[in-house]
This record gives sequence, structure tokens and C-alpha cells, in this order.
Amino acid sequence: MKTLEWEDNKLKLIDQTKLPDELTYVWCEDYRDVIVAIRDMTVRGAPAIGVTAGFGMALADIEGVDLDKAAREIKAARPTAVNLFWAVDRVLDSDDPLKEALTMYDEDMATNRAIGKFGAEVIEEGDTILTHCNAGALACVDYGTALGVIRAAHDQGKNINVICDETRPRGQGASLSVWEMQQENIPVKLIPDVASGFLMSQGKIDKVVIGADRIAKGGVVNKVGSFMVALAAKHHDIPFYVAAPYSTFDNEINIYDTVIEERDGDEVRYYGGARICPKGTEVINPAFDITPKELITGIITEKGIIDPI
Ligand code: MRU
Repeated sequence: MKTLEWEDNKLKLIDQTKLPDELTYVWCEDYRDVIVAIRDMTVRGAPAIGVTAGFGMALADIEGVDLDKAAREIKAARPTAVNLFWAVDRVLDSDDPLKEALTMYDEDMATNRAIGKFGAEVIEEGDTILTHCNAGALACVDYGTALGVIRAAHDQGKNINVICDETRPRGQGASLSVWEMQQENIPVKLIPDVASGFLMSQGKIDKVVIGADRIAKGGVVNKVGSFMVALAAKHHDIPFYVAAPYSTFDNEINIYDTVIEERDGDEVRYYGGARICPKGTEVINPAFDITPKELITGIITEKGIIDPI
């Protein structure tokens, strides 16, 4: 099972908005379908968004659409994960959009295996690992970055336990990461986002491994809440790792210049379909935050573990 697949000149995506209850698929038949799927988070997670965008460019090429125009529109789907921009530009610069997208697809799988291999070296027998959001197979073509590290350690026979933050407001930790771990029979428990500091103080978390949407000079952008987990980990002297491919690195900007996506306030106003605040309450809903490099123990890449930049 892959997060995305190219079949009959169409793109098939797992509909992540339906998990964990239903494993269903949506088909993107043209590049506009791809834009909708990225914008509405049918597909999400930086590497998966990137490869999906690459296939969006291939679809635009098959349709005979001007590729510069398609590139501009696809890049506007979401602002923060740099993989989107990286993938679109890579396909735009290639001679054969479909071949390039298929190459990125294969590379993504190989990259995640390599991240897993390097990352598993820092995971010890008996570790309990906290992760935030979903940086798993569903955030990539397959296997995952942060969850790839956990999968690799588990495959090596290490007895490990995983704790997933629920990751309010959209709940990617609860609905996606817990689901992925259960599919693999990796022991997993779900906690409210606000509980990780307390669990660290009780000695119940040995390591933190998260993914990234952008890595640039000064730190890492990842799902909102990552920064608070990093602060708590620093306070308790718990190693805090970021697992991500080089396609998530942005060498052009300072991390604090990243455009942080602000999402609809209703994601916060409503919980389980019910409004949880007075009608008309004003909301601030940033989808990502920035963890400064001082709080990061290491970045696990497909070429090895490096210091933050
Ligand atoms: O808004 P999303 O679900 O696309 O955000 C994804 C994340 O922020 C993940 O935490 C992640 O680490 C990046 S993808 C490997």
C-alpha cells in the first residue's frame, strides 16, 4: 500500500481525510485535481505533497497545459512545505515531466529507507519514542521519515514503544500515526498534546523523533506544537531528533522567513463536529511552528545524521 500511485496516466491517492476508519482512494485525472487534493489535505506531509505535485506537473504536460502556468498554480496550493516548490521546479527543469515525477517517486522510497537505517542507530532497546503529527508512510510515498526511523528500529528487533501526540487541531497523530503503528504491530499509545511535558518529567519518554516541512538556517519548521515539545525535551535533557530528506532543506532563506500557513479557524472552533467555544470566537490557527536549532540534537537525513544548519 502506497500513499500515492501512478496508474493509467492518473494519480491515485489515499484519502487521508477518511482515515483511520476508511481506507479509500481518490483519483486525480488532471492537474487541477492535484491542486485540490493538496489544498484540502487529501494528501499531506511534505514529501508526499512534493511527489504529488510532481505528478501534477506530469498531468499538466499530458493535458498540454503551459507548464509555467501549472507550476504557479500548483505552488499556490499550500505555502509552507518546501518539498512542493522543490518538486515543481525539478519537473519544470526536466525534459520529460512524467519520467522525472516517476524518478522522484522511486527516490522518495529509497530516501526513507536510508533515513530509517541511519536513524535506527540512535534508537536503543527499550526506548519509548514520542512523535508529533504524522511523518510516516502517509506523509511520503511509503515508509516515512520519523516513523521510518521507528519502523527500522522495530525491524531490527528492538523492543520499542511509541507515543503519539494527538496533534490538534487536525489530529494527524491520532488518526494517522497511531493507525500506521497499529498496522505494523508496533506498541503505541495516544496522548493529548498537552501531556508530553508531564510524561517527560516522569521519565516516560526517552527520545523524540519528528519530521520536517522545511529546514533552513536557524532551525526547523514542522507541525505546530513541535516547538513546545522541543522546549520540554531540552528541559528534561531528552534527545530531540528531526528526520527529513534533503528535499526538505531550503538553502535560500532564514528559517524565520518561512511563510507559515494559517488555516481556517473552524478547525479550532469545532471538535468532533461540535462547536467548543462561543459563536464568533476569533481564532489564531497557524499550521506550523519553528524549532530553533539550539533545541535539536540532530537531523537524520538519507546521508547520515547531521547538525542543524
Ligand atoms: O499539515 P500537514 O499534515 O501536511 O503537516 C505535516 C507535518 O507537519 C508533519 O509533522 C511532518 O513532519 C512533515 S511531513 C514528513
